[in-house]
Order: sequence, then structure tokens, then C-alpha cells
Amino acid sequence: MLEKFRYLTSGESHGQALTCIIDGVPANLLLSAGYIDQDLVRRQKGFGRGGRMKIESDRAKILAGVRQGKTLGSPITLLIENKDWANWQDVMSPDPGVKSQESRVKMLRSKNFKLLTHNSKLYPVTHPRPGHADLSGALKYNTHDIRNILERSSARETAVRVAAGAVAKKFLAEFNVKVLSYVTAIGGIKVASSRSQDQGSEKRILEIFKKAEASPVRCHDKEIEKKIVNKINAAMKKGDTLGGVFEVVALGVPAGLGSYTQWDRKLDAKLAFSFMSIQAIKGVEIGLGFEMAQRFGSEVMDEIFYQGARFYRRTNNAGGIEGGMSNGMPLIVRAAMKPIPTLRRPLSSVDIISKKPFKAAYERSDVCAVPTASVIGEAVMAVAIADSFLSKFGGDSIEEIKRNYKGYLKQINKF
Ligand SMILES: Cc1cc2nc3c(=O)[nH]c(=O)nc-3n(C[C@H](O)[C@H](O)[C@H](O)COP(=O)(O)O)c2cc1C
Repeated sequence: MLEKFRYLTSGESHGQALTCIIDGVPANLLLSAGYIDQDLVRRQKGFGRGGRMKIESDRAKILAGVRQGKTLGSPITLLIENKDWANWQDVMSPDPGVKSQESRVKMLRSKNFKLLTHNSKLYPVTHPRPGHADLSGALKYNTHDIRNILERSSARETAVRVAAGAVAKKFLAEFNVKVLSYVTAIGGIKVASSRSQDQGSEKRILEIFKKAEASPVRCHDKEIEKKIVNKINAAMKKGDTLGGVFEVVALGVPAGLGSYTQWDRKLDAKLAFSFMSIQAIKGVEIGLGFEMAQRFGSEVMDEIFYQGARFYRRTNNAGGIEGGMSNGMPLIVRAAMKPIPTLRRPLSSVDIISKKPFKAAYERSDVCAVPTASVIGEAVMAVAIADSFLSKFGGDSIEEIKRNYKGYLKQINKF
């Protein structure tokens, strides 16, 4: 799906570090670890997060691709250390220091399947958690230690995706494109649905974003924020969890990113793919999304007007995309996050060795991570837009892309 701004991540949740290699960032973009860290800090905020966030204070290290504060055009390598690694070095060691998996499983059998611990960590993990990669992953990768699965399937990986997203944002900022997010619902408590007129108004979106940045649940409405905080507290007390909905908006995107000419070049397809790749995201809408399906056509199409030598719309039900291309209005993506699947009041599961019923394993966990997911949403949206931007305007250096961009703006402004 990504053609020009590509990246791969690696790293386990309690391993030494998370890394990513980003390919396609043009030369001469000013970039510092400090800039990336701002988004890493935003990702770690949010009411409802678990104990892990108190241990980690993520900071990015730039290992390659940047010299004297400027990108080189070569691949960029980023690294985020896991502070918790200190507590997991033996269990997560790449060397066979602790007993091998085989012998641990044997020992478990000999102890009549009583859970073993090593420095207070369960090993092996044999109780798959419903709603996680645990069971399918153990079957697929042929392991009886679910730790081998949960370490990588964990949303800890999104820390380094947010770092990659920050690089994309820095690139987009050169062209005055901003990517912002806010939460619209948690546990069924919603802000009043945003009107399509609002969604066309940059001023209104910036206002909402500013308020959301100051809110512990990234919600711009103070009354709703209070209700959401109470609901999260109640879920916490019950050992339960909550999901919700957030919106990510891109401002300043020119018309013509993406294309209808081939299925995998459509901007809406790229965005849906990107958002669905975030752990626990189960639905994505563009613009009015599912609600559009319930209305008359005359109510939802964004009519076209022309004044002051430019085309414009009074509504933005399409969320800024028509025919797989940006249309110059704000891009609006809404994503639904399921409740966190690990519950303190654990769910029924089956031990994968004894095949006896057991309660699912509990490992320190969030109660609600929707505010964080919205920051991750910004990152994946920024990458998708940067990718389409680079496809359209090409260029090996920022200067070259700016020239191409300027030429294109001239073309559409005198169209
Ligand atoms: C920011 C973020 C934080 C998360 N925190 C947790 C957590 O603490 N505990 C948990 O069980 N799941 C957590 N999840 C969700 C799981 O990672 C996810 O549900 C699981 O990997 C299964 O993937 P799926 O829901 O996409 O099928 C989190 C997801 C995100 C995006």
C-alpha cells in the first residue's frame, strides 16, 4: 500500500528496544529526536492507561539517516529503548540463559500444570487471553509459550509507529499540512455528533483540537469529559475495560492526492488500511461514513460552488475524499476501538498444555486507551498522506518537492 514513504518496525514489548527503518524521506528536512519525542510524550498521556506507562518514558534515538540535524535522503533508523527491559532481561534474553521453552513446558507438566514463575513473571504463558493474538499466534507459530506471541502483538509497537508518524508530520509541515486528533466517544458516552459544516471549518477543527489537547481523555467537551472519566473509573473498579471512537483530521491537504486509476492508489483505501493496522481498531469511517448510508443522496453530497477564483464546498460529508483523491477539504477519518481485551476480572480460557479450563492470564493492562489510539491515528494518517504526497510530487530533496508542489498549486489555481 505504501509506495514512497515506507517503514518497517521491530521489537518486543519487553525486549531491549523498538526500532524502525523509514525509507523514502527526502534530503534536507530538518529533523531532531526532540521533535519526535513530543509525539511520544503525547502517546503516553491519557486517563485510563495502566502501570506500564508509568515505567516507560519514551524517547527516540536517531541511529541513521540524519546528519547535523538534516535528513540525508537515506533510510532513517529510529530506536526507542524499553525501560522495562531491565526487569525482563532474563525472561526476554536472546541467549538461552533461562531454561529452554521445552524444559519449562516439561516442568509445568511435572508440577501438575501449576503456574511457574521466574522473578515473579509467569513462564511459560499458557492461558490465551480472548481478544488477543495469543491462541491463533501459538497455533500458527507452533509454540506453547504464549509470551512468544504477546510480546510482539502488543500495542507497545505503536510507540515506534508514532515516531515514524512524527517524521511524516515534520515533512508535511513543510507544506503547511497539519494532522490532528480528538476523541468523540468512550464507552458509549459521546460528544454531540459533529455537523458536516463544522467538519469543513478549519477554525472549528483547530478549536476542538486545542481543547482536546488539554483534556485527560482528549475530549473537547468538558461535560462529556467528566462523564467519560467517571465511566472509566467505574470500569476500573469493576476490573473491566472500555473502547471508543476518535477522529483524525488533516488540514491543508491539496486536491489531487491519491488516485482513482488503480485500486491500491486510492487515498481512502490507504487510510482505511492504515487505521485498521492499529491494534484494537475494528471500524473506520471516512467523513459521514456509515451515517451516509441512512440518508438521501441529496442530503449528503457536498455541492460544488465557485467564487473568488476558486472552487469550494459548504459541507464536508465526504471527509475530503472523492474518487480516491483528496478534494481540498479537511480529510476526516473516524475509527472505532474495541474495549481492551485483558481484564483484571479474567475471562474463561483453556490451558494450551493441559487443555483444562482456566482463567485467562492477566498482565498489567490499560483500562481504556482510546486517547492514546487517537495519537497513533495521527501517525498512521500522516504517513499515508506523506506517501501520497511523495507519489504525486516526487523529488529527492525538500527543495525539489517544494518546486514541484508550487508548480502544481499554480496549475490548479489558474485552472
Ligand atoms: C494504544 C493501545 C494500547 C493498548 N493497551 C492494551 C493493554 O494494555 N492491554 C490489552 O490487553 N490490550 C491492549 N490494547 C489492545 C491490544 O493490543 C489488541 O486488542 C490485541 O493486540 C489484539 O488485536 P486486535 O484487537 O486488533 O484483534 C491496546 C491497543 C492500543 C492501540
